[in-house]
Amino acid sequence: MSKSLSILCIGAGYVGGPTMAMIARHCPEHRVTVVDIDAARIRAWQSDVLPIYEPGLKEVVQASLGRNLFFSTDIAGGIAQADIIFVSVSTPTKLFGEGAGRAADLQYWERTAREILTHATKDVVVVEKSTLPVRTAEAMERILRAGRPGIHFEVVSNPEFLAEGTAVHDLLSPDRVLIGGHDTAAGRQAVAAIADLYAHWVPRDRILTTSLWSSELSKLAANAFLAQRISSINSLSALCERTEADITEVARAIGMDRRIGPRFLNASVGFGGSCFRKDILNLVYLCEHYGLHEVAAYWEQVVRMNDYQEDRFVHRMITAMFNTIAGKRIAVFGFAFKADTGDTRESPAIRVCERLAQERAQLVVTDPQALDNARQELAARQVPAEFEADPCEAARGAHAIAVLTEWAEYEKLDYRRIFADMTKPAFLFDGRNRLNHPELHAIGFNVYPIGKPPLTHL
Ligand code: UDX
Ligand code: ADP
Repeated sequence: MSKSLSILCIGAGYVGGPTMAMIARHCPEHRVTVVDIDAARIRAWQSDVLPIYEPGLKEVVQASLGRNLFFSTDIAGGIAQADIIFVSVSTPTKLFGEGAGRAADLQYWERTAREILTHATKDVVVVEKSTLPVRTAEAMERILRAGRPGIHFEVVSNPEFLAEGTAVHDLLSPDRVLIGGHDTAAGRQAVAAIADLYAHWVPRDRILTTSLWSSELSKLAANAFLAQRISSINSLSALCERTEADITEVARAIGMDRRIGPRFLNASVGFGGSCFRKDILNLVYLCEHYGLHEVAAYWEQVVRMNDYQEDRFVHRMITAMFNTIAGKRIAVFGFAFKADTGDTRESPAIRVCERLAQERAQLVVTDPQALDNARQELAARQVPAEFEADPCEAARGAHAIAVLTEWAEYEKLDYRRIFADMTKPAFLFDGRNRLNHPELHAIGFNVYPIGKPPLTHL
């Protein structure tokens, strides 16, 4: 067994919490502490109701909690003890000043760097876990190295590739673990220390080491490529709706080409989540910064196509419902940005609800895990809505259902009963293409899938 290390993670969010729980479980000889400024969040991690909904996560946390996994608000004390510090604080898109709406807001990261500088008592490896603009590690290193002679700070990049809803599986069996560091003796040693942690459960051939900058850029590039696939299929869904083509058939046909592959080709109302939009805008800003305007415009189009898809969805609803939805009750099935999470950051439901409310529709939102977050998102934007846990109740008296999240339970609802309780003609807009459209049509619904001809009775 290797020497016992004190591992600290600053930021107990969707990335920090699950990642540290997995490291603690597989590295019983190390002590893992997760700290956060948010005391309520820390209390929740210590309780039976975790602050995030993530299938299978509770078992992983509880396996190590109090043994070698600790959650605390004592950031200074944690830093003083630490041999390795993972930083996974929020890096939202900057909303003010230079780069507003595009660049990453690094204030949380910089504050953390200064805290590390103030409280460190020994040499420490600082691991950049949050997605950050390329070359941030270097800037952070400058801050850290300027301040404390006698203490060596080595910064490495170890981007997280887990997807919410499947975080436990993704952490347990990652396609790869990426660690970037400097090509110096200290850099190689730091990279090796992080690689040794993951090697407790990840095969060595899946642990990839690169330069610092390649690692940082790879994270942005991976998310840009994934989002680009969705925008590509969504762009074609618009064409399918105008022709006789069916986007599911097209996706299947192209996905069988092994060079393309079948995954991540589901046309939808749009992609959401905390990463895709932010990371692409970050990439765009970076390209602009280096004068690569064509490259910037190329990637920016992926985000624009997503906005277009969300707007198009609403436009189709309005057109189908006789060009007015004012006063009409619309049941929004699902507010989370994807199934199996309660996370609503950048969810397409936000923009769709905003637009529907602008048209004076009466919204009733239902979601099995994201109702609290939905309430906050809509309140922050002054979008009036009702919230209802039971989808059948939400649809009672509604003119239309808009399915915005692919929750499996929405496939099993009693749509005969739902239809009976709705205002007629009853519409169903499936923003995820997961429901059985011919069956719904046979029940009496006017069904509008994404990228397919509608099935109507009108
Ligand atoms: C993503 C990356 O997958 C992950 O590697 C990175 O670490 C963080 O960002 P996440 O945002 O959690 O993960 O979820 P993901 O499964 O990638 O889905 C993102 C969005 O795309 C969701 O809104 C999802 O519904 C949508 N999506 C995904 C589609 O619309 N169609 C698809 O075919 C796949
Ligand atoms: P991610 O999805 O990247 O994990 P989250 O927003 O879920 O992002 O989590 C980031 C966490 O970082 C939040 O819980 C937030 O309270 C915490 N945080 C932000 N700034 C600091 C800081 N300076 N010190 C400690 N924790 C911080």
